[in-house]
Amino acid sequence: MSGEDILGQLERQLKPYRDQVETFDRIPAKGRGEEEVLALLESLARREEPRWRQGYASGAVYHGGEEHARFLAKAYALHAQDNPLHPDLWPSSTKFEAEVVAMTARMLSGDEVGRRRRGAKVVGAVSTGGTESILLAMLAYRDWGKARGIAEPEVVAPVTAHAAFRKAAHYFGLRLVEVGVDENFRADVEAMRAAVSEATVALVGSAPSFPHGAIDPIPEIAAIAEERGIGCHVDACLGGFLLPWAERLGYPVPPFDFRLPGVMSISVDTHKYGYAAKGTSVVLYRSEELFHHQCYAATDWPGGLYASSTLLGSRPGGLIAAAWASLVATGEEGYMAAAKDILAAADRIKAGVRAIPELKLLGDPLFVVAVGSDTVDVYRVMDHMTARGWSLNGLHHPAAFHLAVTRRHAEDGVAERFLSDLAACVGEVRHSPPSDEGMAPLYGLAAVAPGELVQGLLEAYIDVLYEV
Ligand SMILES: Cc1ncc(COP(=O)(O)O)c(C=O)c1O
Repeated sequence: MSGEDILGQLERQLKPYRDQVETFDRIPAKGRGEEEVLALLESLARREEPRWRQGYASGAVYHGGEEHARFLAKAYALHAQDNPLHPDLWPSSTKFEAEVVAMTARMLSGDEVGRRRRGAKVVGAVSTGGTESILLAMLAYRDWGKARGIAEPEVVAPVTAHAAFRKAAHYFGLRLVEVGVDENFRADVEAMRAAVSEATVALVGSAPSFPHGAIDPIPEIAAIAEERGIGCHVDACLGGFLLPWAERLGYPVPPFDFRLPGVMSISVDTHKYGYAAKGTSVVLYRSEELFHHQCYAATDWPGGLYASSTLLGSRPGGLIAAAWASLVATGEEGYMAAAKDILAAADRIKAGVRAIPELKLLGDPLFVVAVGSDTVDVYRVMDHMTARGWSLNGLHHPAAFHLAVTRRHAEDGVAERFLSDLAACVGEVRHSPPSDEGMAPLYGLAAVAPGELVQGLLEAYIDVLYEV
């Protein structure tokens, strides 16, 4: 199957769906009535909602309870105009942000929190998502290194670290030195140690990693960083709001947060298991000096004195208010109860996957269930799952897919539906010929085609997404 066939398939998937609602490729000469516009919005939302609401998505919607969603929407609506860039107009926005940072830092054992307090140890900001938090931390380490005379700073990370680290390296001219992982997909600590050079500014570990949900050996990684006097960034975007409760529930969670003296920064997403609306994350630092490297100030700009703490200028105060509302309304008890349900559902799913002879569970994860196989084409299994409505994440090196377990999967019967569909799909794949449709051909191509070709295909894919 060629790249063009694959793009044609994507166009076919998107087109009928897009055509069902009136298309706008220019601003209408006369504005439509609000009722009509809301009806258009609602018709699309109603069509998309059942799939994630019924737990067919991996990750993506981490809470999704109707009442909670309504609550977040109300919190957003109350502060929809707010912008923390104007603290004179919206001091509440700065309050919400500072408190989201403080609550998150405290959850991750940053006991002395608060930007302005004397002796504060953990400081940080609210960003728009995990990727931005990671970009900011990498920018901070780069400039921390440059301030120490390192002309070409390097960051050492396991290959399983999120693509956002590659993006940071690409954007900011950092050299990302990637090392391998062990049989359980955890960073190879000795390889990390060996990869440290005079130019290394930081080591990275995930808690847990996106692909396989593996928690890297953070204590060992942080110890190397401490010994070398460099940074250690923990990417807890996915696990930061689950692992503290998992630990209290007695699950095996090695220390990964500010309890470890070598951990200098953490990225942690409110918009995942913090159950906030999409568009917020937190980046935390043990040192104010590091934090200042992510901030920007213009002192002689004709537009006035300008200072901002994250990549954006104006920021969505409404989303920060909604994140604050989520933390305050959920409370430790709520997070603990959610973690308990999610981890129990994940345990049932992991056991069910292990019981399907053709499949294997990759590594020893807590709540991200990555599935591979030595006997069937897992991408075809994933395609058959897609045909049944599931939206799973394809992985490669090795071939696999995963389900990040959320509250949606903890609802009655969802985990069981996943497992029975999975067993049925394995049977279908064993007894039917391969198809040209789906992700299997794309991953098949990616496995053999030169990198530039696949890169070109992904760029064309982005273009297709923007077609009206
Ligand atoms: C471990 C990890 N880090 C970073 C990210 C990036 O987060 P976002 O998609 O919010 O930018 C993700 C997203 O799933 C993740 O799982």
